[in-house]
Amino acid sequence: MGGLSSRSSSGGAQPVNAGTHLVRRFFQSLVDRGPDPQGEAWLLGLLTDAETPLYWQMSAADRSHALRSAKCPALVDDAQRVAAALHDAGKIRAGLGTWARVGATLMGKVFPRGLRGRWADYQDHPHLGAAILRESGSAELTVVWAAEHHLPLSESTLAPDVAATLAAAD
Ligand SMILES: [Fe+2]
Ligand SMILES: [Fe+2]
Repeated sequence: MGGLSSRSSSGGAQPVNAGTHLVRRFFQSLVDRGPDPQGEAWLLGLLTDAETPLYWQMSAADRSHALRSAKCPALVDDAQRVAAALHDAGKIRAGLGTWARVGATLMGKVFPRGLRGRWADYQDHPHLGAAILRESGSAELTVVWAAEHHLPLSESTLAPDVAATLAAAD
C-alpha cells in the first residue's frame, strides 16, 4: 500500500470515538433533508462515472454525511475527499431507515454474529461497500477506507496519518 502511505495530512485531525459518531449520526439522520445542491455538484465533479450512480443510491441523510465528510478541511487531496465521501457506500445494500439502523447497531452489539438479512448487510456495510467500490474501479484508498472505516485506527492498513485524517472526516 505504498501509494497510500505517501500521503500526509495537515495534522491536527482528531477522530471522534465510535459511540460519539453513532449518536451524532443518529440525530443528524432525524433532521436531515439532504445535501445542498451546490455542495453536491462539487462532490459529483470528483466522482468517476461508475461512482456517481452509487452516490445517488445513498439516502438523502447518507449523501449529506458523504458531503460533510468530503468537505472536512483536514483532507489533503481529492483522493482523500472521494474516500471520505464513499466510505459508507455499503449501506445502499441494506437500505435500512434510521430506526432500523439503530436496531441493527444495538443488536449487533448484543449478537455480533447473529444478525440476518438486511440487518446483517447493514452490520457488514464496510465489506459490502469495499466490494462494490472495487467492482466499480474506485481508487485503492477509497476501497480500503470503506473496508476499514469502523476498525480501530491501530488496525488500519493505511498510513496512520491518512487513517486519522479520514476518521476525523467521518
Ligand atoms: Fe460506516
Ligand atoms: Fe460514516
